Amino acid sequence: MSAKPTTSGPDKGLGPPELPYEDENLLVKVQNLTVGFGRGQFLAVKGIDFILEAGEVVGLVGESGSGKSLTALSLMGLLPHGARIESGAIFFKGQDLSKLEFKERRDLCGKHMGMVFQEPLTALNPVLTIGEQVAEIFRLRQGLSKAQAQKAALNLLSQVGLPNPGQAAKSYPHRFSGGMRQRVVIAMALALDPELVIADEPTTALDPTIAAQIIWLLRDMAKSRHTGVLFITHNLRILAGLAQRVLVMYAGILVEQTQGDFSNPLHPYTTGLLKALPPNPSEDSSERLTPIPGQPPSPSDRFSGCPFEPRCPETRPVCSQALPPMIEVSPGRLVRCHKFV
Ligand SMILES: Nc1ncnc2c1ncn2[C@@H]1O[C@H](COP(=O)(O)OP(=O)(O)OP(=O)(O)O)[C@@H](O)[C@H]1O
Ligand SMILES: [Mg+2]
Repeated sequence: MSAKPTTSGPDKGLGPPELPYEDENLLVKVQNLTVGFGRGQFLAVKGIDFILEAGEVVGLVGESGSGKSLTALSLMGLLPHGARIESGAIFFKGQDLSKLEFKERRDLCGKHMGMVFQEPLTALNPVLTIGEQVAEIFRLRQGLSKAQAQKAALNLLSQVGLPNPGQAAKSYPHRFSGGMRQRVVIAMALALDPELVIADEPTTALDPTIAAQIIWLLRDMAKSRHTGVLFITHNLRILAGLAQRVLVMYAGILVEQTQGDFSNPLHPYTTGLLKALPPNPSEDSSERLTPIPGQPPSPSDRFSGCPFEPRCPETRPVCSQALPPMIEVSPGRLVRCHKFV
């Protein structure tokens, strides 16, 4: 599927760029989303815009604290206590989520959106068997009988590749490895065939081989069901071959949007993220891991220019004075850096 740009041309600041007209494939449209704490005193997400289409995997990447989870939780309507959407809008299939009553919103999230969290053990109930937990979703949400729900649960557990699903269904979560638990969590997120799945660092707690299996499972399940996926990670390399589009987030703003190919990053921050990754063991590379110097700012820090300026190796005087606009340098490639203004 061809990626779509979120702007039709350079926007001149943080204001909402022009987004494409609704089409039947457009699942999520996030427009100028701003999330804050303490009555807007601290802004952790600052005016971000993106779209996600049905069947598309969009990667959201950035260092710790950049606002990735708060973006995801805003979509799910699950912001933590004290956080709120200060401005902007989230549309799901053209429906403005802020206009929904609490129950409508809860039903929409429960049926049409699924979430896979980083730590699978905390997402599972330790005192229920795996089979009971998966079957419960079918019973409560789809009104299936106990026997029908058990059958549906077994079917789903086998689809996510659990060996011997009958035996697995009778087991409690603590008996499973991290990778097996994450398969169960993915099964639960996909149980109701949601149109959108948000995976928030679903493989961080797993070793690389199992992580790769989980990523491909998620990709295959999404592809076969035409599910839209927002895949959140620290690791740009994970997204290669998985995401059709990648959004790079820094200090609560989007600084770059790339299509599947990350070999030519435009923003110095994206370049820094790539250089900070350990070399790929399968590649014969003499390149050394180079961490980005300094620390990302906290939501309470104020800056009048580009938030990456204090850490940027290519800084110029204008960088500390004005936030650059998001520029569309080619179809689907957007960057917020003074180098391109
Ligand atoms: N409940 C909260 N109360 C106060 N500040 C919060 C809360 N949750 C998040 N924050 C702050 O908001 C900012 C963005 O947080 P968020 O969890 O979205 O980051 P993230 O990009 O998901 O980071 P990570 O990669 O570590 O998960 C951070 O500075 C964080 O400290
Ligand atoms: Mg997070």
